[in-house]
Amino acid sequence: MPCASRSDELVFFVNGRKVMERNVDPEGTLLTFLRKNWTLLSKSWLLRLTGTKYACGRGGCGACTVMVSKHDPVSRKIRHFSVTACLMPICSLYGAAVTTVEGVGSIKTRLPPVQERIAKSHGTQCGFCTPGMVMSMYTLLRNHPQPSEEQLMEALGGNLCRCTGYRPILESGRTFCMESNSCQQKGTGKCCLDWGENDSSSLGKKSEICTKLFAKEEFQSLDPTQELIFPPELLRMAENPEKRTLTFYGERVTWISPGTLKDLLELKVKHPKAPLVLGPAMKSQGHFHPVLLSPARISELSMVTKTSDGLTIGAGCSLAQMQDILAERIAELPEEKTQTYRDLLKHLRSLAGQQIRNMASLGGHVISRHCCSDLNPFLAVSNATLNLISAEGTRQIPLNEHFLAGLASADLKPKEILESVHIPHSQKWEFVSAFRQAQCQQNALPHVNAGMRVLLKESTDSIEDLSIACGGVGAATISAHRSCQLLLGRHWNELMLDEACRLLLDEVSLPGSAPGGRVEFKRTLVVSFLSKFYLEFLQELKKLVKLFSVPDSRHHSEVSDQFLSALEDFLVTIPQGVQTYQNVDPHQPLQDPVGRPIMHLSALKHATGEAMFCDDIPMVDKELFMALVTSSRAHAKIISIDVSKALELPEVVDVITAEDIPGTNGAEGDKLLAVDEVNCVGQIISAVVAETDVQAKRATEKIEITYEDLEPVIFTIKDAIKYNSFLCPEKKLEQGNVEEAFEKVDQILEGEVHVGGQKHFYMETQRVLVIPKTEDKELDIYVSTQDPAHVQKTVSSTLNIPINRITCHVKRVGGGFGGKVGKPAVFGAIAAVGAIKTGHPIRLVLDRFMNNGRIKALDIECYINGGCTLDDSELVTEFLILKLENAYKIHNLRFQGRACMTNLPSNMAFRGFGFPQGAQVTESCITAMAAKCGLPPEKIREKNMYKTVDKTIYKQAFNPETLIRCWNECLDKSSFYSRRMHVEEFNKKNYWKKKGIAIIPMKFSVGFAATSYHQAAALVHIYTDGSVLVTHGGNELGQGIHTKMLQVASRELKIPMSCMHISETSTATVPNTIATAASISADVNGRAVQNACQILLKRLEPIIKKHPEGTWEDWIEAAFEQRISLSATGYFRGYKAFMDWEKRVGDPFPYYVYGAACSEVEIDCLTGAHKKIRTDIIMDACCSLNPAIDIGQIEGSFIQGMGLYTTEELKYSPEGVLYSRSPDEYKIPTITDAPEEFNVSLLPSSQTPLTIYSSKGLGESGMFLGSSVFFAIADAVATVDIAEDFMVQSPATPERVRMACADRFTEMVGNCLFS
Ligand SMILES: Cc1cc2nc3c(=O)[nH]c(=O)nc-3n(C[C@H](O)[C@H](O)[C@H](O)COP(=O)(O)OP(=O)(O)OC[C@H]3O[C@@H](n4cnc5c(N)ncnc54)[C@H](O)[C@@H]3O)c2cc1C
Ligand code: FES
Ligand code: FES
Repeated sequence: MPCASRSDELVFFVNGRKVMERNVDPEGTLLTFLRKNWTLLSKSWLLRLTGTKYACGRGGCGACTVMVSKHDPVSRKIRHFSVTACLMPICSLYGAAVTTVEGVGSIKTRLPPVQERIAKSHGTQCGFCTPGMVMSMYTLLRNHPQPSEEQLMEALGGNLCRCTGYRPILESGRTFCMESNSCQQKGTGKCCLDWGENDSSSLGKKSEICTKLFAKEEFQSLDPTQELIFPPELLRMAENPEKRTLTFYGERVTWISPGTLKDLLELKVKHPKAPLVLGPAMKSQGHFHPVLLSPARISELSMVTKTSDGLTIGAGCSLAQMQDILAERIAELPEEKTQTYRDLLKHLRSLAGQQIRNMASLGGHVISRHCCSDLNPFLAVSNATLNLISAEGTRQIPLNEHFLAGLASADLKPKEILESVHIPHSQKWEFVSAFRQAQCQQNALPHVNAGMRVLLKESTDSIEDLSIACGGVGAATISAHRSCQLLLGRHWNELMLDEACRLLLDEVSLPGSAPGGRVEFKRTLVVSFLSKFYLEFLQELKKLVKLFSVPDSRHHSEVSDQFLSALEDFLVTIPQGVQTYQNVDPHQPLQDPVGRPIMHLSALKHATGEAMFCDDIPMVDKELFMALVTSSRAHAKIISIDVSKALELPEVVDVITAEDIPGTNGAEGDKLLAVDEVNCVGQIISAVVAETDVQAKRATEKIEITYEDLEPVIFTIKDAIKYNSFLCPEKKLEQGNVEEAFEKVDQILEGEVHVGGQKHFYMETQRVLVIPKTEDKELDIYVSTQDPAHVQKTVSSTLNIPINRITCHVKRVGGGFGGKVGKPAVFGAIAAVGAIKTGHPIRLVLDRFMNNGRIKALDIECYINGGCTLDDSELVTEFLILKLENAYKIHNLRFQGRACMTNLPSNMAFRGFGFPQGAQVTESCITAMAAKCGLPPEKIREKNMYKTVDKTIYKQAFNPETLIRCWNECLDKSSFYSRRMHVEEFNKKNYWKKKGIAIIPMKFSVGFAATSYHQAAALVHIYTDGSVLVTHGGNELGQGIHTKMLQVASRELKIPMSCMHISETSTATVPNTIATAASISADVNGRAVQNACQILLKRLEPIIKKHPEGTWEDWIEAAFEQRISLSATGYFRGYKAFMDWEKRVGDPFPYYVYGAACSEVEIDCLTGAHKKIRTDIIMDACCSLNPAIDIGQIEGSFIQGMGLYTTEELKYSPEGVLYSRSPDEYKIPTITDAPEEFNVSLLPSSQTPLTIYSSKGLGESGMFLGSSVFFAIADAVATVDIAEDFMVQSPATPERVRMACADRFTEMVGNCLFS
């Protein structure tokens, strides 16, 4: 426990209320402090502000963003800045004011514009990221009430959202921007009312088409005077700062915060090993130090000095402050002195997200010498110096290669600290530039970065001085000193560039074991950066020659026009676009919400943080925490498990192993807790139960497990085939005669296509709270799941108690995407064993660290890497094979699929259930076929598409009319053919940048291939005051199912949605539910709700007929008086669906969703980066129940698919440990990855008799359309001399794009590798 008796009092404010705390633990963060109520039990009010969410805990996702306000002693102004609370040491908040989402506003009191607008603009789906988004936007508005669009993008760059695809979030932010005009749909430069004016032929009547998803004119205006003021008490404290050293003692760590520089230097003498903590690094790296020194109160470290030759910036300044300082200095100085500062400022904008730039200090950044540091290479080549200070005095050292290499002679002494960094002005004839290439443009550590500087002899082109430093190419930033020396005196021309590249490749040698691997790519980037630098400076020279009127400049080289494109950066711009849908019939009653863009039911609660997720449930009496112990081996025998050391810890209550399970321990080959053998790294072996989560996690490290490694260890599909290691029998479909057809065709193409795996990356990690009741072995389980009935069943069999004693509750789920169908049952069951064994409620929250172009025959053999247990792999294989044909009619077809068993963690299903991966293979075949036939891919697609009523490979009949309409509409709306010509023109003119365009059709089957899955039930109660409570079997994952269900109930009962409520999904109210998955849940549950409402209305009919003038309340009162039941169960006995795998025929799917997407991209051949220029999607939703929600689903899933095909890459260590777990290593799309222009249209005038109100389920289909970006990249790459067959591998990461674009630099690297 922290030592309150000796500690000083930590004083800060939260949402305008003073916190005085002696009992703080210096190891704690602001996030735990806000979320946990136990921290303030001694006070009269509880904090428990759960609006701030815990997701990654590593500063990478922004879900925990809050605003911190501090008085800046230097400028004497209040500074408001966003931070990630998960990395903010609680003790660093002395004298600060914290504003959380609850402090901004609430539904109960005041709903400020920032919260209102994100909700009403449909900027929330699951809502887990929303409080963080709100706080980033709120902080921006506190500083800039009318921000620019650029500032908005910058402010949100550190916040991830896995659901929305960002467009609606930005849309809400843009309503505050000064550039924003009155129309929120200005995508193409036209007003929404004008859009589509030329499209009436294809879209039906103009009046039926709508592009407005929210009413901006209803928004209240922003009034900055309404915001919380900086507490006067803190202002007084800042004006008379406490000079005394403050000390906070924890159980293991002491935090010391001196008030003066002198005291800090003395403390550094006393504790030479203690680190200085200013920014987030210490928390993010999780290093342990018994003493921490906080220089936050030392104003000398925040000083900025402007000298005649440069700028000296205090080491305590944050990187964001540094941006402001540089901007100010650039405005003051003549242009020729600021070139260094301008480029540094530009470079800083791409470093991490806004919150990290607000927290990370210049000193911490420089001193930590991270191998991927973005600033150190730049500062090193800019001749920056470090001003050091100690109790003995001051001295300067250069920030050079020796310092970066950590040589003792060039480093700080243990008692010294860095006071400031001096960055010189740029000189005449000097040029500095910085480069970086990361997996995505923002919020990503770079693969490689570089700083480069050249100084020419006055008025010549000969090199007087040259420096190059690179990061990401070794354990530290590397300086290419030798190469630079050898190039002195050389002329700035192509010959020099060639020589420089060879020298650089020789000096920056990068061993195969370099951190992060990717050796060839990194080496290629180094020389590519150099060539960019060469061109940039040539261009600059042109200006200098003019500026300084150089008399004879003929010998200076010039950049040829076709190379100029290499100099253009991919600018981050706010996405624009139009969303089009069919308006409801003008005669539809106003009260009837079906078909209208109704806001998500929980949107306002998401925006205010009032929406409760599983881990937001307050601590219950005697609650304990559970942490899991997992295998560190991929395939091994468990020799022994020694739990004694963990049990010795006083706060540990128990350790749970397989022996404690009273009932069934999972299934054979898929145990809940491992027995005897483990089959992958991360497999659960046991669980520790302790008083707090931190204690439980620490205790897991005390459990000693002895293993004996087993052979074989299989990680890849190739090895699985070699060892004949499969999880289930092969699935096969066939039509025509493939062998015979292949004998007759003109061209045969053979090859392999690899599609990478994808993490669900739901923002809310898996979590469960199990509460054992005192009577009859009853258990209440609060769980974040897509399938509560499965959790209920699994807990029942694990505990060996009947299902009727277990109630599972799901209020809402912070994202699922298929990842919360099966696994929550495992966690629920293990937690339940803990709860039964200890008799205590158990909370378990997981960390994130776990020739004519017709195709005559097609034969595809698919293997999926299923991991170590079956999980959903058999189903995924079946769906993959069933959906593989996508939209094409190919007469001779053979599809075979197998799920490989490997020693990797079990792979579950993801949104789309194998379709996005399978159809990618089919589309790759088609694209390759097009290349072979010398035809455009869209022609091959069109030629082979289903055109008339037909049967699929499994003989299910369908009508593809709307598929063709979507395709034609997409060609038309995207102006595909004229843009294809522009792309070709562009590519002719530009050498280093290439554009590509692709259009993809889609036939997506909805539902499960089994009849029993197509059923649903609902329970509707009408209370005596007329209010209605609806319950149904679907779970709210963010997809808006509850909103849609109330729309259905509202139409059926003919009363407004405001009279209705949905509380939760519970196994006690609607039993035997089906997983919320396969895009079918709104449909089947909607039918059940409809049925219940119709039963109720029928019962009310005689009363209504008798008193037609009465109100709803009157009729309900009368019904009650007449003893008419006001409660009804609705049931939908759904579609018949079957698949006979023996006969290879079936009717597995109720219906299909059709769509098409066209994407255009531009690639940078030198770095492999790409920019998404435009995407147009046409989707056949039939009569959408709610266009705002459906368009949100399409956009969100498209962006998720785009991530699958471009940036999301699973990387395993040779031992089978997943490297890419956290947002640091695994890159889901960020706000800057959305296409610059993003148009989505729902196909009008389409009907289906099968579904509720003729609406189609759109939860998953958009994923695959993300592949249009992949094929557009492939199209661009195809215009270059391709080094490798690009299509064979997805995702199209910068590495793959760069290495596919063969040029002189890749050749140089290749030659060096083999020389
Ligand atoms: C989520 C995340 C994303 C990031 N992304 C990027 C990125 O894309 N690019 C990039 O370049 N960096 C990135 N960083 C790193 C970041 O820029 C900083 O380099 C890092 O946080 C260290 O700065 P700090 O203020 O947190 O250091 P601190 O934790 O305060 O200190 C780090 C070390 O420096 C020492 N130190 C600090 N100040 C002084 C001083 N005045 N005198 C002597 N020693 C001192 C401390 O003793 C400690 O050993 C990221 C960091 C995080 C957490
Ligand atoms: S939880 Fe803090 S940034 Fe992800
Ligand atoms: S709404 Fe953003 S993560 Fe779900």
